[in-house]
Amino acid sequence: MFEEIITFVRSLYGEGYIPLHEPKFIGNEKAYVNECIDSTFISSVGKFVDKFEQMICEQTGSKYAVATVNGTAALHVCLILADVKANDEVLTQALTFVATANAVTYVGAHCVFIDSCSNNLGLCPDDLKSFLKTHAEIGHDGFCYNKKTKRRIKACIPMHVFGHPVKLDEIIEICSNYNIDVIEDAAESLGSLYKGKATGTIAPLGALSFNGNKIVTSGGGGAILIQDEKLAKKAKHLTTTAKVPHRWEFFHDEIAFNYRLPNLNAALLCAQLEMLEKFLLNKKETSNLYKKFFLQKDIKFLECSEDSESNYWLNAVMFKNNKDQQEFLQLSNNSGVMTRPIWKLMSDLPAFKNCQKTELLNAKIFESTVVNLPSSVRL
Ligand SMILES: Cc1ncc(COP(=O)(O)O)c(C=O)c1O
Repeated sequence: MFEEIITFVRSLYGEGYIPLHEPKFIGNEKAYVNECIDSTFISSVGKFVDKFEQMICEQTGSKYAVATVNGTAALHVCLILADVKANDEVLTQALTFVATANAVTYVGAHCVFIDSCSNNLGLCPDDLKSFLKTHAEIGHDGFCYNKKTKRRIKACIPMHVFGHPVKLDEIIEICSNYNIDVIEDAAESLGSLYKGKATGTIAPLGALSFNGNKIVTSGGGGAILIQDEKLAKKAKHLTTTAKVPHRWEFFHDEIAFNYRLPNLNAALLCAQLEMLEKFLLNKKETSNLYKKFFLQKDIKFLECSEDSESNYWLNAVMFKNNKDQQEFLQLSNNSGVMTRPIWKLMSDLPAFKNCQKTELLNAKIFESTVVNLPSSVRL
């Protein structure tokens, strides 16, 4: 059976080593990067950064977009914009890439880990609701507090796993009842839609990543999606060392970050974004082929909820048990087909082992059974 899966992957991606997700540069990438080099504007100033931000707004329907050096930096700034302070708490899912949890610690806050949904792998609204019902209360200042730790619960970061949108409406409604800000970690889901709207633009703040393994890439890169003008200005200020605009003077009015995406990376990304629609169609096609194959094999292929459209970033299956997961990982990687398990639960990593968490029943099952399959664009 496992041999059959490998043969099927090879029927999609051919002979030789098959990576999990490789970038595709088949558009204007070289032309734009050359143009950027010829202009000498390769760093934090240049037309491609502005063009990239405009393209992201057009693509997602976001009111504002601020380019950043990577998705982790975008998340970090989102937390600052949401006014998350040291010793606050941030609710997020245990099953996520470590960057989500790391960003919470950059502002000195603490993670609280919530379970995943059984269908789309994202933060589970029912578990979130039950956690808040048991552990949270509204203080005299109108903020939400954790009854056990006495800390303020200031934000919640749901993440759209492998491009499959989380149940955002429910999460936003629950959080609004407790005065908790929602930040979408949309690092993996550029091009995904939840009820017709682009992920990352439904909550007031969202973060995108353009790391080398993402659907489109600038090598390293990210963006903050923002729906409020004042916050957008603040984001730009914070990501550009808080320099007060002046033709020659260096006045920085607060401590901030050098998080601006270089023009060189933005040039690459502008060309990549021109290809996004094509990539999305191609990835959907691949995903449908996988789905059909696994249906015949009685192996669960992970899909998004009916109210959503995924960008089909990474295809994943769920094996019946941990033994099958491990055997398939061994066999496929030994055969030159790159496959990966889903992440270890954040609550089991040394840095986060003391964080409060719910039972994480679904997350534990996913951790021990899910495997990602090669998912690169096939063009
Ligand atoms: C869910 C998630 N959040 C955040 C990030 C961080 O993005 P970056 O690698 O661009 O810093 C990534 C991926 O890389 C991710 O998958």
